[in-house]
Amino acid sequence: MTVTIVGAQLGDEGKGGVVDIFGDAVDVVARYQGGDNAGHTVVHEGDEYKLSLVPSGAVRGKTGVLGNGCVVNPRTLFDELDALRERGLDPDVRVAKRAHVILPYHRVLDGIEEEAKSEDDQEVGTTGRGIGPTYEDKAGRRGVRVGDLLNPDVLRDRLEYVVPQKRALVENVYDIDIDDLENPDAFDVDALHDEFTAIGERLDENDMLVNAGEFLSAAIDDGENVMMEGAQGTIIDIDHGNYPYVTSSNPTAGGAATGTGLSPGVVGSGDVVGIVKSYLTRVGSGPMPTELGGVEGDTPGYDEQGEGENEELATYIREEGGEYGTVTGRPRRVAWLDMPMLRHAARTSGFTGFVLNHLDVLAGLDEVKVGHAYELDGEVLETMPATTEEWARCDPVYETFDGWPEVDWATVADDGYDALPANARAYVEYVEEELGAPAYAIGVGPGREETVVRHDPFE
Ligand code: GDP
Ligand code: IMO
Ligand code: MG
Repeated sequence: MTVTIVGAQLGDEGKGGVVDIFGDAVDVVARYQGGDNAGHTVVHEGDEYKLSLVPSGAVRGKTGVLGNGCVVNPRTLFDELDALRERGLDPDVRVAKRAHVILPYHRVLDGIEEEAKSEDDQEVGTTGRGIGPTYEDKAGRRGVRVGDLLNPDVLRDRLEYVVPQKRALVENVYDIDIDDLENPDAFDVDALHDEFTAIGERLDENDMLVNAGEFLSAAIDDGENVMMEGAQGTIIDIDHGNYPYVTSSNPTAGGAATGTGLSPGVVGSGDVVGIVKSYLTRVGSGPMPTELGGVEGDTPGYDEQGEGENEELATYIREEGGEYGTVTGRPRRVAWLDMPMLRHAARTSGFTGFVLNHLDVLAGLDEVKVGHAYELDGEVLETMPATTEEWARCDPVYETFDGWPEVDWATVADDGYDALPANARAYVEYVEEELGAPAYAIGVGPGREETVVRHDPFE
């Protein structure tokens, strides 16, 4: 049996926590896209774990798989594994031989391109982890795959083809002298070959390399439960998000099939659970029609949407929710829940249910608003327009809900759904009705015990 966890919005919806909450019956947790741009938080027995690359299930001793759709920075992977071991865990993580390797030059190029774009206010606000450049090389058929690290000759051939191209790009297109860079070795074939051959040996010696599709289907054939852990979210999906303010992979449920080697039938035979934050946050650029207040400099070209009157409320929610980037520490932009966005997400991934997180963060407000629809050029829209330029011009049509009080959330979670304040239940039920899917759980705090679980998709 499989369950797929998908971010419904702009990332940071609390996916890591949900993987943990439904993790009891899970044997294997597989990431299917993205890389160390993700930052997933799991609070387990009072300890907080922030994971970029290691699948969240590792905290509970589950086998983790980085699927072929991922881009893997081995330095981050080993650092994270070492840090978990220092905290007394014994993580078991496998890496798809078909996954692509983030090489040091990818990170450098990510930074250089963002810098160049920022001159015209066009930067995406990436995490700087080299994600885009690595997926570019994958699509350009000049990437290095994890399996290539086992064969020094193949690795040398790949590097000897691609590294001179990267050098030429830096020097001739961006007009930067490689020797002036902080780490010129990122563009040195011999240095790269030495480091990444050794990494291949380490992965091999630790028995970490797998053919992901085969490995995962064998697990399913053996009756094991597989959880697919999406990273990022629907609106930063490269196909279904607000291009170009997106990441370079498919966080939506289709990515779970292509990114693991399991068939769409296998993925679709299980639950697809959308993870929804009760409001919206965004790190990086791009529009957000229901924005409450901008973070200066973070919304090139679209500042007008969020500026002004609601800055105070945005700051309040940001502080209550601890809305600072897990990977980069950047303050997250804040907005009201956006229902056209969620309808788009539910259709794209086929949510069979959802988890509504962070309901506690909104407690104590007099009223809570939801962008129920948009108005664009005199028309009312129920879902997101396909171009980012149109989306940026959408005016939200708000619905207003009465607020709910701050209560003892752990007790509420213990007592169950009916113990939630009535106005909070009205909010949950509105989302259920609009999405035509049930709320499997409601997050009322960061810890496992601060979750109202109504249905475990593995049961
Ligand atoms: P992810 O990237 O989707 O896994 O989410 P992040 O870990 O980046 O961000 C979610 C943050 O919210 C983390 O600090 C979580 O511990 C926290 N969190 C998750 N669910 C809830 C919730 O229901 N209430 C509150 N207050 N915090 C939550
Ligand atoms: P999790 O898994 C929120 C955003 C970046 C930037 C854009 C492209 O924790 O939800 P990239 O480095 O991927 O090329 O950046 O995507 N972004 C995220 N935002 N949560 C994430 O991951 C993100 N991963 C990337 O801020 O706007
Ligand atoms: Mg995150």
